[in-house]
Order: sequence, then C-alpha cells, then structure tokens
Amino acid sequence: MMFVMYVLYILLIFIFVLDLYLAFKFFEYLYCTHILKQPPMVASNYLLRQALVDYINTYHKNVKNICDIGSGFGGLVRLLAEKTNANVYGLENMPFSVLMSRIYGWFYRTKSKIIWCDAFDWLDKSDIIFDVVVAYLGPDAIQKVLKYKNKMHILISMDFKLKNIKPVRVIKMSGATRYKGKLYPHMLYVYKFQ
Ligand SMILES: C[S@@+](CC[C@H](N)C(=O)[O-])C[C@H]1O[C@@H](n2cnc3c(N)ncnc32)[C@H](O)[C@@H]1O
Repeated sequence: MMFVMYVLYILLIFIFVLDLYLAFKFFEYLYCTHILKQPPMVASNYLLRQALVDYINTYHKNVKNICDIGSGFGGLVRLLAEKTNANVYGLENMPFSVLMSRIYGWFYRTKSKIIWCDAFDWLDKSDIIFDVVVAYLGPDAIQKVLKYKNKMHILISMDFKLKNIKPVRVIKMSGATRYKGKLYPHMLYVYKFQ
C-alpha cells in the first residue's frame, strides 16, 4: 500500500510539473504571437545542426566566438559549446526559452552565455566581432542580420537565404522547414563578410 501511495505521489508531482511546463509554453506562445508579433517556429532539425557543427569544425576549426541569433531552448547552443572550443553566445527574446536553456545548460554543464534580449538591439550595442554567427530565423527576420555584417566574419543561415547576396557555400540536406505554409528545403547557406 505504501508503495502504491509513493508511486501515485511521484506521478502527481510529474503531472504538476508537466502542467506547469505546458502552461508556460502556452503563455510564451501568446507572448510570441501577440506581443513580439513574431511567427512561432520549431527548433532546427537535428541533422542540420550536426551538419552545421561539422562544417564549423572542418572549415573554421579554431574560432573563438560563435553566436546563435534566436537561440530558443538552447539546443544548438549546447551542441556548439560541446563540440567546439569557442565561447558560445545565445541571444533570445522569449523569457521562458531563456530560462529553459539556462536550466538545460546548468544540467548538462555546458559553457555558454544565454542572453535575454532582442538580438538586434543587443548587436547594436555589442562590440564583439563574432567569428561565426548562426541563425534559424525565418525568411524575413534573417534579412535583418545583414545590417550587422561588420560584426561577424561568417554567417551560417539555416534554411533561409539572404536576398541579393550570394552565399560562398550551400549545403543541401534532406527534408524541409514549413514556414507560413511554404516549404523551405533544409540547407545551410554560408556567407563570408570579412
Ligand atoms: C526557430 S527558433 C531557432 C532556435 C535555435 N536557434 C535552433 O536552431 O533550434 C528561432 C528563435 O529565434 C527567436 N528570435 C526571433 N527573433 C528574435 C530577436 N529579434 N531577438 C532574439 N530572439 C529572436 C525566437 O524567439 C525563437 O526562439
């Protein structure tokens, strides 16, 4: 009997934590769509992330600073922090995502800096020149990154390309991102700025 009570108690705690998590996700969704007015997006595809990390480790092996513009729950930031020797920055404007990525980062003991900010406001003020900037932002938001080309050497955009500027390399992967009903094939677009 004691054992059953114990299992039920654990189950209740689990359901409570899950409810809390879903409630926060729901409020973050509303914050994203109604206050920030940005279309909600899922995290990047795992194979695409892996290809991105392999690309950095092959062609930009000893980079010092990497920045993920719009780091979400921090999955890509953690992978970059784990697989490269760079200082990895994640810029994210949604508070619950920032909290979760800090919790995961603490849990997995990955060294990265997650900053709660509007990435473009932050880049306006920052004097760090990033060796590599990565972004998975959507077809419109990615265009804003071009304004900061003097603050980065390499930009790797996942799935969304910059208008009027030719990538130095394009890596094709299988699958696609669906964004506002349109399919964008999985690609890494690499841009070199300086
Ligand atoms: C599709 S997710 C990408 C998450 C992660 N980089 C990945 O590859 O899985 C895009 C994230 O960018 C964030 N974002 C969009 N515009 C932003 C901005 N101006 N400043 C900071 N974060 C932004 C969104 O809140 C969202 O979490």
